[in-house]
Amino acid sequence: MSGSFYITTPIYYVNARPHLGHAYTTITADVVNRFNKMRKADTFFLTGTDEHGDKIVEAADKENTSPRVYVNKISGLFRDLWPELGIENDYFIRTTDKSHISVVEKILQTIYDSGDIYFDEYEGMYCFGCERFYTERELTDGKCPDHKTEPERIKELNYFFRMSKYKDWLVNHIKANPDFIRPERYKNEVLSFLKEPLEDLCISRPKSRLKWGITLPFDTNYVTYVWFDALVNYISALGYPSDAKFSKFWPSAQHIVAKDILKPHGIYWPTMLKAAGIEIYKHLNVHGYWNIKESKMSKSLGNVVEPLTLKNKYGLDAFRYFLMRDMVFGLDSSFSEEALVKRINSDLANDLGNLFSRVLAMVHKYFKGRVPQVDSEIDREFSFTLEKNAAEAVTEFEINMDQFNFHKALAAVWELIGQMNKYIDVTAPWELAKKKSSLKQLETVIYNLLEGLRVISGLVYPVMPDAGKTMQKHLGLDSEIPFYELDLLRKWRIIRPGTILPKTITLFPRIDLKKKEEMEQIKTSEEIPGLKPEISMEAFSEIDLRVATITAAEAIPRAKKLLKLEIDIGEKRTVVAGISGSYAPEDLIGKQVVVVANLKPAKLMGVLSKGMVLAAVENKKCTLAIMDNKVKPGTMLT
Ligand code: ME8
Ligand code: MG
Repeated sequence: MSGSFYITTPIYYVNARPHLGHAYTTITADVVNRFNKMRKADTFFLTGTDEHGDKIVEAADKENTSPRVYVNKISGLFRDLWPELGIENDYFIRTTDKSHISVVEKILQTIYDSGDIYFDEYEGMYCFGCERFYTERELTDGKCPDHKTEPERIKELNYFFRMSKYKDWLVNHIKANPDFIRPERYKNEVLSFLKEPLEDLCISRPKSRLKWGITLPFDTNYVTYVWFDALVNYISALGYPSDAKFSKFWPSAQHIVAKDILKPHGIYWPTMLKAAGIEIYKHLNVHGYWNIKESKMSKSLGNVVEPLTLKNKYGLDAFRYFLMRDMVFGLDSSFSEEALVKRINSDLANDLGNLFSRVLAMVHKYFKGRVPQVDSEIDREFSFTLEKNAAEAVTEFEINMDQFNFHKALAAVWELIGQMNKYIDVTAPWELAKKKSSLKQLETVIYNLLEGLRVISGLVYPVMPDAGKTMQKHLGLDSEIPFYELDLLRKWRIIRPGTILPKTITLFPRIDLKKKEEMEQIKTSEEIPGLKPEISMEAFSEIDLRVATITAAEAIPRAKKLLKLEIDIGEKRTVVAGISGSYAPEDLIGKQVVVVANLKPAKLMGVLSKGMVLAAVENKKCTLAIMDNKVKPGTMLT
């Protein structure tokens, strides 16, 4: 795939310093951007800062400074952080830029002229923290659910955007383009929101209340609502409407945001674009939150994790790898330094680092650092598996990166690492080295291992650019040629035999947990008594939970507690359940319960039980886990 590719992050509010959450989104965008370079796309990567609105004025007031001075300072913190994290954005936009302001004015005027902006009186509950009006039913105990403060009742004349007019169009657009908003859960969230009536959007604030904003081109007594200003950054940065960058990149636009700002991006933004007669963006990619448990990590940091601290402590590549490998894009993840160290030691130091130094050490030991020749005859016998494994890893990687399944893309690379270790065990180079007669085999084996490492160096590049480049240098690859390009990774026999390789190095040093005194382990949910140790998503996915309909039930003679149940889980099965004291057999028929379907069968009182029914046990009384709605028997629970 070549062509154009445009990726954006949210523009961050300058009311606070950048933290891990901002770093995650921006690193993700960088990874996606680099991945598209691997596909030879012409890319444009945008990030920036959102600098207007009440929040900013408030933050500036707190520091006894003017908004202008304040936004310059904090915006600078973001701008300067990104290169430190290996971020290669093409442009950094600020909503206080003149060029941005004039595009916002243009869009407002266009929509106003078309009749989709009108003037009206509005009375409502306004939360200053959120900078928006709330309806009664959106409040919890009369308070803003986010800020836990009572909104103020405000009655004023304002301008409104006729968003309601575009509701049906938007629903149809989302349904016709199933991956317009992804992962799917967020598409569903937007669709379910659109089932309710959609109100028009208040897009102005009277200057009597707020001056720090863009003045409406058609009424100088008002400034623009922050979201109507901020969202426009995605096109103003490309020089909308006349710049060639706009026509080139906008049709391929993809946004990345966290779920906190799903609504403005999934609803306001597409309807604004539609009303202004501009093509709609291509994908909205939505991720979850990084959560921090109550931790003793460091008091001075409080609840916020500083990306630079982690980079300095563990290295940039390791930090980026952890973020991309540990979070399932779309779901929440909880951050702990312990988990980070575990990942570094197992995936990076152990798996990747060891394989790399092991192979290079053999090149030095057996061939004085010179890349050996391959014997085509022997190669046919030996290498096919590795060549095929590498090709499969590249394919898996590409599919998953394309769908923002970063953890799976990386898992595919680590599968290849595992296969290479197995290849070493099976071919046993140290045995081959013992006899002159097996020299050609030894050469072929080592050559293939070097090729495998070359493919890995390219695949890790978007997430770990430095490690990728270091590996390539040590494989004797010319730094002038982009060896991370997918076309090259799909090929085999690229490294030139005869090349002298530099001495091997340690890619990722192991981290000794005990020596890191400043690091105290973060305890997980101590509140729940008897909570078992955390398991990985992979470990959980081994358990096959299915919906089962109970079709028959009877007591088992001489067994006090046991009932024999006939169930339908897509096939007929018998299970034995210890629930007799709590349920009468006749009450169970037709109930839909949850069954562990892949539990090893066991004989209980002479009855073979294939599976286990789930129930909560409290004071010896059982309560079955029962489905809330009718579901097809055999449906998997995830
Ligand atoms: O909402 N986990 O800016 P913002 C993951 N200016 N990501 C997180 C996070 C966390 N705990 N905390 C923040 C705004 N983020 C508007 C955006 S766009 C036209 C205007 C990231 O400073 C995540 O990307 O509140 C989230 O969507 C964004 O920061 C919110 O940044
Ligand atoms: Mg926010």
